[in-house]
Amino acid sequence: MNPVFADLPVSVFEVMSQLAREHDAVNLGQGFPDDAGPEDVRRKAAEAVVSGWNQYPSMLGLPELRQAIAAHYRHWQGLALDPEREIMVTSGATEALAGSLLALIEPGDDVVLFQPLYDAYLPLVKRAGGNPRFVRLEPPDWRFDEAMLAKAFTERTRVVLFNNPLNPSGTVYGRQDLELLARFCRTFDAIAVCDEVWEHVVFDGRRHVPLIAMPGMRERCVKIGSAGKIFSLTGWKVGFVCAAPHILRVLAKAHQFITFTTPPNLQAAVAYGLAKSDDYFETMRRDFQASRDRFAGGLRELGFPVLDAQGTYFVNVDLASLGRNEDDETFCRRLVAEHKVAAIPVSAFYAADPIRSVVRFCFAKRDATLDAALERLAGALKRTS
Ligand SMILES: Cc1ncc(COP(=O)(O)O)c(C=O)c1O
Repeated sequence: MNPVFADLPVSVFEVMSQLAREHDAVNLGQGFPDDAGPEDVRRKAAEAVVSGWNQYPSMLGLPELRQAIAAHYRHWQGLALDPEREIMVTSGATEALAGSLLALIEPGDDVVLFQPLYDAYLPLVKRAGGNPRFVRLEPPDWRFDEAMLAKAFTERTRVVLFNNPLNPSGTVYGRQDLELLARFCRTFDAIAVCDEVWEHVVFDGRRHVPLIAMPGMRERCVKIGSAGKIFSLTGWKVGFVCAAPHILRVLAKAHQFITFTTPPNLQAAVAYGLAKSDDYFETMRRDFQASRDRFAGGLRELGFPVLDAQGTYFVNVDLASLGRNEDDETFCRRLVAEHKVAAIPVSAFYAADPIRSVVRFCFAKRDATLDAALERLAGALKRTS
C-alpha cells in the first residue's frame, strides 16, 4: 500500500470529534455552521432533482453555472473569465485541489506550502511526487516576508499552494502580501494554486483580493472556490476552478478521471445562488461577524488572549502569554473532558516545527450554542497544569 496514505495517523479532527461525542461536548472543533443554509437555494436543488436533468452533465460543469461563476467573479472581484475555456466545476474544492496538484506537479518538483496548512494539502502534494518546501507562519500576524519566501523557493519550484483567507488563522492577505508572492511566482516561473474557498467570509469591511488579479498572475494561477463555503452548505461539495485556457485544459484531464462531473441539480442551485443580490452576501458576512464578535468578546472577558480573526469561521486564542505548562493539544483534550467544549489544536496544521500554543474555535454557530460554550469555558484557564 502507498505509505503516503497508509501511514497517515488518525487526524486530530477525528480524535476531537470522537471526544466531543463521548463527553457530550459543544463541538466548536469542526468547521461547519449549524444553520441549514439559504432555503431558496435548497429549494432550487430540490426542484432540479424532481424536474431537472439527472444524467451526466457536461464535464466542465453546467454552462449556466459556468456563466454564473464568471458573472459572480466579474461583479465581486473584477475578473474577466471566459466561461467556456477558463472555468470548470468540480466536486468540492477538495477535488479541485487534488486534480490541480496531480495535473501540475511532476515527480521531483518543489512545491511551496504555507504552514499552518489545510490537512489535505500535504498528502496530495506528496502523492503527486512533489517535494514540500514550507513557509512557517507564526502568531499573532501569520505574515510572510521576502526572506521567508527566498528560503522556500528554489530553482525546482513549479507549484505554490496558497490559502487566502487562511484556515485556521483567519488571516486575510491583502495586495501587498499578494504582490510579494506574485513576484516570487514570476521570478521562479511557478504556478500558484490558490485555495480561496473563504473568499466571501471576510470581516470589518474587507474585500478579498484574488492572487490571479495581480500583475503577471493571470497566466499562472489556478483559482479555487467552493459553493459549500459561499452558501454555508458544506456537504454539497460543489467547487470551481478558474485558470487560463492552457492550464485549465490540463486540469480538465485530471478531473475527467477523478469524478468527471458533479451532481447537476446542485450545480443548477449554485448557479441560482451565485446571482443572489449583494444584500444576501453582505448579510451573510454581517451575521458571521456578529457571531465572531459575540464569541471573541466572551473569550476575552474570560481572559483568553484572542487573536485577530479577519475572515473564515474561526477564531484563535494564543495561550503563550499565559505562561501555562500545557501545549495546545493537552489543553484541548482537557477542555473537552473537563469543560465539554471541543476545539482544535493549531499544531495539527503544521507538518514540521509546529506552533504549540494556539487553539482554534469555530464560531459559525447559533448564539445559544456560543453562549453555552462560553459558560462552559469559564474556569478553563484557572488550572495551569
Ligand atoms: C482551506 C480549505 N480548503 C478546502 C476546503 C474544502 O472545501 P470543499 O468542502 O469545497 O471540498 C476547506 C474546508 O474546510 C478549507 O477550509
